[in-house]
Amino acid sequence: MAIISSKKQPQEPHRQPKQRREVTSAPPQDNLLQAEAAVDEGKQEESIRPQRFADYIGQKDLKDVLDIAIKAAKSRGEVLDHLLLYGPPGLGKTTMAMILASEMGVNCKITSAPALERPRDIVGLLVNLKPGDVLFIDEIHRLSRMTEEILYPAMEDYRLDITIGKGSSTKTRSIPLSKFTLVGATTRAGALTSPLRDRFGLIQKLRFYEVDELSKIVLRSAQLLQTAITEDGATEVARRSRGTPRIANRLLKRVRDYAQVKSFAEINEKVAAEGLQLFQVDPCGLDWTDRRMLSVIIEQFNGGPVGLETIAAATGEDTQTIEEVYEPYLMQIGYLSRTTRGRVATPAAYKHLGFKPPNEQLSLLP
Ligand code: ADE
Repeated sequence: MAIISSKKQPQEPHRQPKQRREVTSAPPQDNLLQAEAAVDEGKQEESIRPQRFADYIGQKDLKDVLDIAIKAAKSRGEVLDHLLLYGPPGLGKTTMAMILASEMGVNCKITSAPALERPRDIVGLLVNLKPGDVLFIDEIHRLSRMTEEILYPAMEDYRLDITIGKGSSTKTRSIPLSKFTLVGATTRAGALTSPLRDRFGLIQKLRFYEVDELSKIVLRSAQLLQTAITEDGATEVARRSRGTPRIANRLLKRVRDYAQVKSFAEINEKVAAEGLQLFQVDPCGLDWTDRRMLSVIIEQFNGGPVGLETIAAATGEDTQTIEEVYEPYLMQIGYLSRTTRGRVATPAAYKHLGFKPPNEQLSLLP
């Protein structure tokens, strides 16, 4: 836990009042910019989810690695190695698992660690797998110890070890399983136990998407949704999507509503900007919590360093959400740096929120 010195006297940073973007006192209720899927979002995502590598835009390095692994496994007539995908939410881990299965010509069973609380849940899934099937477990860092221990021999030797009886009459029986591929997904690779992590043959990271990649995703989704959008319109949506396809597709749907209600024939840059402005989506895709986090660091702690717990208390978010959801994007766009002494707002963050960056403040001194 980071400790903030109570001796530190926060100084008021020099503001540029006219330019300063307001951080409202209460967060808005909708979660347009949350990268996690909303409860009712699954079906909508399904209709535009790419089914093959050829349709999957971005993540070139990952696709290259998986393409080789698939071709090698297919030519040897073997199953694919177990694969661990990690990275922030909304970047396409589930989609990638489904594409892997379809490229291998096998089924994909999808579940998540919280649904596998009792040992019988994972046993039921494992015994029903067909040869080569992909078993996708989301949030795999949250598996219970018992479930995890059932997975070890299943992953290593395609075997289920079942203990029968109690005390001195305990017997262990092994049941053979079909050879399968486990695809685990996590936002926190570091939270996996090492015995579990070590059983994955491939460990791959998904990275945030570039604006041009997100623009292509928006254009593709708009076509599937039969929505007219210009390239500039798609780029405007992409720019505000926090490097995340799930957010890009969600924003596209909101802009589509806006264009329809206002009777615009197509979504161009202006329509996209107006529509997203209405939903208070910042030109960089920052939401209330991002802006609040940065303004707390700047205004109350003179730009930092400041501890995670303090930021959490000031924003009302829990430390884990800040670390896994907010910080990765703020660091990616260069607005925040993480040091051993705490979080620091960068000059770019000062500028974005309408404050004078610290070095400019120094140059004003006599
Ligand atoms: N929809 C969501 N993610 C996508 C991707 N990476 N490529 C194409 N369409 C997508």
